Amino acid sequence: MCGIVGYIGNNDSKEILLNGLEKLEYRGYDSAGIAVMNDKGVTVFKEKGRIADLRAIVDENVFAQTGIGHTRWATHGVPSKVNAHPHQSASGRFTLVHNGVIENYSGLMREYLQDVAFNSDTDTEVVVQLIEKFVNEGLDVEEAFRKTLSLLKGSYAIAMIDAENDQTIYVAKNKSPLLVGIGDNFNVVASDAMAMLQVTNQFIELMDKEMVIVTKENVTIKKLDGQVVERKPYTAEVDASDIEKGTYPHYMLKEIDEQPLVMRKIIQAYQNEAGELTIDQEIIDAMNQSDRVYIIACGTSYHAGLVGKQFIERMAKIPVEVHVASEFNYNMPLLSEKPLFIFISQSGETADSRAVLVSVKELGYKSLTITNVPGSTLSREADYTLLLHAGPEIAVASTKAYTAQIAVLAILANVTAKSRGIDLDFDLVKELGIVANAMETLCDSKEEFEKIASEYLTFTRNCFFIGRSVDYYVGLEGALKLKEISYIQAEGFAGGELKHGTIALIEDGTPVIALATQENVNLSIRGNVKEVVARGANPCIISMKGLEDEEDRFVLPEVHELLTPLVSVIPLQLIAYYAALHRECDVDKPRNLAKSVTVE
Ligand code: G6P
Repeated sequence: MCGIVGYIGNNDSKEILLNGLEKLEYRGYDSAGIAVMNDKGVTVFKEKGRIADLRAIVDENVFAQTGIGHTRWATHGVPSKVNAHPHQSASGRFTLVHNGVIENYSGLMREYLQDVAFNSDTDTEVVVQLIEKFVNEGLDVEEAFRKTLSLLKGSYAIAMIDAENDQTIYVAKNKSPLLVGIGDNFNVVASDAMAMLQVTNQFIELMDKEMVIVTKENVTIKKLDGQVVERKPYTAEVDASDIEKGTYPHYMLKEIDEQPLVMRKIIQAYQNEAGELTIDQEIIDAMNQSDRVYIIACGTSYHAGLVGKQFIERMAKIPVEVHVASEFNYNMPLLSEKPLFIFISQSGETADSRAVLVSVKELGYKSLTITNVPGSTLSREADYTLLLHAGPEIAVASTKAYTAQIAVLAILANVTAKSRGIDLDFDLVKELGIVANAMETLCDSKEEFEKIASEYLTFTRNCFFIGRSVDYYVGLEGALKLKEISYIQAEGFAGGELKHGTIALIEDGTPVIALATQENVNLSIRGNVKEVVARGANPCIISMKGLEDEEDRFVLPEVHELLTPLVSVIPLQLIAYYAALHRECDVDKPRNLAKSVTVE
């Protein structure tokens, strides 16, 4: 989703801004722009499409030591050069980039800006026009900035420059992520630390409703009432090389291949010196004190939550509900007396999940965030955090974060179960080790999955995934992967549910990918396959060793029955990858999608 960068220092800002925007490309965007400023004024370059298109129009000859930049994921107004950020005030004096959504923009336009001719269809332009209006009325720039912020409803991360002062970037944040990076005689602004790791690893977090005056020597954080806030920088732990593709053609393939290593890192991170799995006692106490766990998440993280429900209920015997975040706030179920909320989020920034966190905090309930990003908003704002240790995930389609989420949920369930004196007849450390080896075997079988993709998915317009029990949940994730990156219409169904409607869509040759990893439903899922085959479907059964049959297309190495999602998802990730590749789709940056969805 939208990204922000900013630089103020002694070097030319253009290259730093463009490099920073390239690092944010993975988040998904449809246009981009930069505004650079020197003592002669501000120059804006913006373009629809990729950063490469923007780079092509940036004038090499402009040298400017201050600048801001943006990648836009359209919300208000179509993707276009005009709607791309930065936006400028009527006179051109103020130039601004914004992430988030200004909910009351049309009201503000009516109330304050009747006489202003707007250039774009964006909500953002209201902000920059308001600042100019208040300056024209006699406020100084900082006062006008503050007054404007106090009128805004919604979410924003903002960076603004003033053509009459090339020594300052004005910054503000509410709900949307924004950091200030600290350098030696320069400072930077970024919506994600990754964008500026090229120049610094020292960052200061900003809190909601704070504004910051950034010069090359100083960073002054203020609350909206003008009170100055002191805050020390932290060191971003991401290694710049973690976000490089290396020899891989795509981040997605690299991240699929990293999964065995991530499993091993997770085992290590959650083991004590005696080799036992361990989790912060406060988290285990919170689990034990709750009478029901509510898992809240979106997209792939929601699918991981469904698997997590099985773990917590089967191992720790605590009832669990799993909810899509965007629905929960508007349709809140009747809560139990002592709920514990678990937020699952790769990025830790998803706006819908954050909105639920804000609501449940207001209700006084405890919360735990399971995330890949230390210091992310959901991590900071929840009572407790468990980290995924998956390393940065760049491809929009989530792969290693999904399996990492499942592994961490298994560990949480396992440690909670033990703390309740529940006797589990397996050693999770050993079983996760077996999973890591099985993942490796699958990653080494890429040719097989490439063949399946070309055989089943080259010419099809749709594809169904079926499974029962936990295989159903993995089928949902398989379908999501396929539709996200190959644009084939793909849906996941509970095997038994197909005949209640969806079977009407089965035609000659329709691909149906069936998972059969669970002994108790092995025969019934095979029965469902027969039903679709009788109607012309082209079945691809992926089963688990010990449950295999002659008709199966691929047999997965055996792992503990509870942990099968960790391995059965890998063929589905790889099949989706190759299907997208064969269709010449942009695997890492699928159309219309964003990695981190920071608007509700
Ligand atoms: C976006 C991404 C998905 C992700 C979802 C939730 O839609 O494209 O891959 O699963 O957001 O993101 P989160 O960071 O909260 O896990």
